[in-house]
Amino acid sequence: MLKKLINDFKEKFGLGEIKTFFAPGRVNLIGEHTDYNGGHVFPCALSFGTYGVVRPRKDKKLRFYSNNFEEVGVIEVDLENLVYDERDHWANYPKGVIKIFKDSGYDLKTGFDMLVFGNIPNGAGLSSSASVELLTSVILKELYKIEIEMIEMVKISQKAENEFIGVNCGIMDQFAIGMGKKDRAMLLDCNTLEYIYAPVELGDASIIIANTNVRRGLADSNYNERREECERALGELQTVLNIKSLGDLTIEEFEKNKELIKNKIDRKRARHAVYENQRTIEAVEKLECGNIQRFGQLMNESHISLRDDYEVTGIELDTMVRLAWNETGVIGARMTGAGFGGCTVNIVKNKNIDSFIKNIGEKYKDEIGLTADFYVASIGDGARELI
Ligand code: GLA
Repeated sequence: MLKKLINDFKEKFGLGEIKTFFAPGRVNLIGEHTDYNGGHVFPCALSFGTYGVVRPRKDKKLRFYSNNFEEVGVIEVDLENLVYDERDHWANYPKGVIKIFKDSGYDLKTGFDMLVFGNIPNGAGLSSSASVELLTSVILKELYKIEIEMIEMVKISQKAENEFIGVNCGIMDQFAIGMGKKDRAMLLDCNTLEYIYAPVELGDASIIIANTNVRRGLADSNYNERREECERALGELQTVLNIKSLGDLTIEEFEKNKELIKNKIDRKRARHAVYENQRTIEAVEKLECGNIQRFGQLMNESHISLRDDYEVTGIELDTMVRLAWNETGVIGARMTGAGFGGCTVNIVKNKNIDSFIKNIGEKYKDEIGLTADFYVASIGDGARELI
């Protein structure tokens, strides 16, 4: 595939010395809507993602082309004039990252040409946008020989999403995509950014991602609303408790103090954030000692909490998960990512994968009227130059 991309690059931008890069997508195994609440998350990088072919230029032009959006054509912007512009479509992601690099004091003197192709399904909640952001970050590091740690690139990429794109996301996606390691998931404490890698050893089972093929259209506005609800709840708890985030609370502390949160909805949101954080910590402990069954149960509980307390699921995700729970060989199933559409993540016994895909595909089509897609996930490394 890389060969084809290099040829496509040459066709679009002409000959010259090129470099190639890759940034993965991500799937979160457990710990949803906890990152911006100062809790834990447990994502991993996927082996599919976004490829980039790049060549430096001598002038200050930046030219972008995506094989995923051929109709958009080549987008050309000036390195000295990086502002969000709807007409620049997907190129706002690399533009944002370049802008934040510059604002952070990194000296980028000349532009470059960049062709990308992603095999992450778009809008499926597997972080295609964070993938483009980290891809751009590693490109800048290598092209301009910048001394910069991956964790800094993760933060810059998140800042680009928050400030340039205007989506108030937490740090999970950029972290997973930047710091990912083959066959490992990362338990990240989003309060301190401390993390450990945990081997994902599932015995005779695999991770199956099921795509509802409903784009998470509503997600952004609801996402910001959830953040506000949690911030309000935190503010009320802070009138009495000395805490920095909901992630600081144990379940006991929350239960003792929850009446401080006056609004019932805000209280439910906070309950999810606190319980999900504790669930995530327990899930990783269980995985580390080989108790996959309990890990799966915690995934199921996570979904129920996202459905009933956090209310970010919706009929398609709930149907997909319910069908999975009723299927033979399923150890755990839940929605993954921001919610409202996108994907579910399932742990399924290897011998039942075929029937899982067939049965759920049929029943989902019957009930919802859409064709689902299924991917057997393999956990890959984080964003990097390809040599
Ligand atoms: C999106 C955001 C992440 C995180 C998840 C929910 O993917 O980008 O920061 O909040 O939703 O867990």
